[in-house]
Amino acid sequence: MPAPPQARPEVESLQAYSAPLEGRRGLLRLDFNENTVGPSPKVVEAIRAIPADHYAIYPEYDGLREAVLASLADMPGTVSLPQPPALQPSLRIEQVGLFNGVDAAIHALFQAYGAPGDRLLTTSPTFGYYTPCARMQGMAIEAIPYRMPGFAFPFEEILAALTTPPAGADGGWLPPRLLLLCNPNNPTGTRLAPEAVLALAAAAPHTLVVVDELYEAFTGDSVLPLLLDPEGQKPEGQKPGDAASRAAGTAAVPETAALPTAAGADPFAAYPNLLVLRSLSKTAGIAGLRIGFAIGAAAVVDRVSRVTGPYDINSFAVTAAFAALADQPYVDAYVAEVLAARQWLVERLVAAGVRHHVDGGNYLLIWPQRPAAEVDQALREAGILVRLMAGKPLIDGSLRVSLGTLEQMGRFWEAFVLCDVRPA
Ligand SMILES: Cc1ncc(COP(=O)(O)O)c(C=O)c1O
Repeated sequence: MPAPPQARPEVESLQAYSAPLEGRRGLLRLDFNENTVGPSPKVVEAIRAIPADHYAIYPEYDGLREAVLASLADMPGTVSLPQPPALQPSLRIEQVGLFNGVDAAIHALFQAYGAPGDRLLTTSPTFGYYTPCARMQGMAIEAIPYRMPGFAFPFEEILAALTTPPAGADGGWLPPRLLLLCNPNNPTGTRLAPEAVLALAAAAPHTLVVVDELYEAFTGDSVLPLLLDPEGQKPEGQKPGDAASRAAGTAAVPETAALPTAAGADPFAAYPNLLVLRSLSKTAGIAGLRIGFAIGAAAVVDRVSRVTGPYDINSFAVTAAFAALADQPYVDAYVAEVLAARQWLVERLVAAGVRHHVDGGNYLLIWPQRPAAEVDQALREAGILVRLMAGKPLIDGSLRVSLGTLEQMGRFWEAFVLCDVRPA
């Protein structure tokens, strides 16, 4: 029999991103940082109201970008601006790309920008899908570890890798093609001040700087309010200087480029190389329907959107997205519940002397006393799924535990105490 045709060499040697995604229904799912209670009832109503004959029609996307923009205008940090909205820079619909989940946006941006031999710069450990996307394009990967102790963001190292040829490099050195920043980082929770993201983008105009803000609702650390509010109004308690110093691990963050201030100006005018990723998977609770957004300069959004199919997002996701985007109070209430549950759980971890690491995001890391794989299995037998971090740099031996409601974290804690915590 003749051998089957070979795929591209990059694909033949590719290790696909695989996650243990089967058989999870009916269990307490603290393994993928999903919303643990489901979407707003308004989303469910909207989906139920779709007439069956609409299933026969290809999806339509009219108005969805506008709805995304309207929901961004509602973001914490942009609501209570001193100046009237007409004087603020504003996003245009060409600056919003729609994707079949942020995973599809990530895949598309690598396809659009990553060529064989180009470099991806990112951090380690971070979200697992960036690496296979780079490899399938034949890109080289430079992953800079978080700083220990505490998983601080390696600001100086990233800045140097973006701007400075390594010793001995010849005149042909090129900056990385792509910088992928996950903020807050999954799985370490590391927070990066939005000012620091802008500083990196300004320092590397030839690199596409992608900031994956999938979990920003749990921290408020987004570049968008900064870009939309040139006066730099920050929510209470988030002083730019403090945040920037925290992110950089030092007192100094390089000056960012001047922000545009003209009425209606393009918020990305000074950052044409910056792309922001947002999703309705985690907070709005529609991970199963798949919808995500990429927001940036119109030219970048256009290039990334060119490599997708015309109907990649299905009609159910579109309907759900309209309803979810219109119900921000539902998302806000869920985020508040998760943050309260996080505090409750952290108090118990501290009191019981369990090693853990918590920062941004709806997840935290726990190092059990018993081998992590055994605790993972025991929790599974108790009906609770968490994610083993086996083999991941810096966090091998830990479990990533997604945060849900107080009641759910109570169930987790009860089971965890039984299978791991021993009296001191
Ligand atoms: C950091 C990060 N980016 C992107 C994704 C994918 O999100 P989506 O469900 O929108 O494809 C995930 C999902 O776990 C994630 O953790």
